Amino acid sequence: MTEALTTTDTTTPYILECGYEQVWIEKSGKRFPAWKVRLETGSWWRSKLDFLVLSRQSSVPLPKAAFRQLAQESPWQRPDPAVEKRSDDRWKPYMKKSLQILDHFLLTVRKNHAQAWSLFSRQCDTENLCSSPSDHIDCRQSKQLGQYFCSIDNAKHLARVLMERLITDQVSDWVIIEPSCGHGIIIEALVEEVQQSITGWKILGLDVDSEAVSHCRHKHSTNSSMSQIQWIAADFLSSSKRDFGIDDSEPCIVIGNPPFHLAQEFVDHAMEEYEARVVVFVMPRRLCGEAGRSYAYGEDYECEYIELESCDFHFQGDPVKSIKQPSLIQCLRRRK
Ligand SMILES: C[S@@+](CC[C@H](N)C(=O)[O-])C[C@H]1O[C@@H](n2cnc3c(N)ncnc32)[C@H](O)[C@@H]1O
Repeated sequence: MTEALTTTDTTTPYILECGYEQVWIEKSGKRFPAWKVRLETGSWWRSKLDFLVLSRQSSVPLPKAAFRQLAQESPWQRPDPAVEKRSDDRWKPYMKKSLQILDHFLLTVRKNHAQAWSLFSRQCDTENLCSSPSDHIDCRQSKQLGQYFCSIDNAKHLARVLMERLITDQVSDWVIIEPSCGHGIIIEALVEEVQQSITGWKILGLDVDSEAVSHCRHKHSTNSSMSQIQWIAADFLSSSKRDFGIDDSEPCIVIGNPPFHLAQEFVDHAMEEYEARVVVFVMPRRLCGEAGRSYAYGEDYECEYIELESCDFHFQGDPVKSIKQPSLIQCLRRRK
């Protein structure tokens, strides 16, 4: 068991750090320390839940007393055996035994339960746990902004729905607004879908996060088919079409994947402030009616819901941080 405490063998799993920050668990309303674990794939943050799932799936009991004791002492970093004097005073020698027990638990699961281990040793931090303090702040801000981006397939699906089912008028001067554009993949999918007929359209990608907007500008700066798109840092909910030089005679279409906690506000603002002819949004399923049916939506709009091919979203636009959110495409069309 002592082998793991001093090993430099990177195939042996062991705990490196605990309580990097106390992690707020929304569902239980409690805080738990996070654990940084050295795995074959790198060093990743894991939550208490990850350990419990590992124990349940492998049927190897989690050494609860050792786990609790180490958690109570957090934050601490595992002492480097090569360094005599450590700067971390929170490390107490009696914790060594508990740490060895926990290392042994990891080693046992890894040796004997490949399936449970493969989930635990995945190559990313657990959702909401990040590998540096600045990442952690980014993570929190991203969550507050609802930065769960569309998969490419869903972005293409949205663009197809707009072009095949909703743009039936032969209008050459549409103004297309993506009010929460993130890294711009819905606009990218739309440009690909539309190809030449895009000439004459005004296309705006807005996002309240100026870094997301810079990302779009940078990413598309050399792509000539994206050169007419304006990327603007703005809060959609306090914007009006006049802010962007759109006058009342220009027909607006609003398309996107709004932050889910503000989804209804985005719909209302698109209809009321932008007087959009068409609004196509990915929406949380709880706010939607039944897919495949049409509904009246207020006095001026008709509404249809369409199933998405998958409900996968990527936190901060990173496909590795994939999560599922029950959702549908909501299409609103203004009655003539
Ligand atoms: C669910 S993500 C969607 C990103 C992109 N549409 C996609 O699916 O790839 C929501 C985006 O809305 C942005 N956002 C949040 N509140 C906003 C607001 N009030 N105005 C504009 N953008 C906002 C976030 O920064 C985030 O990038």
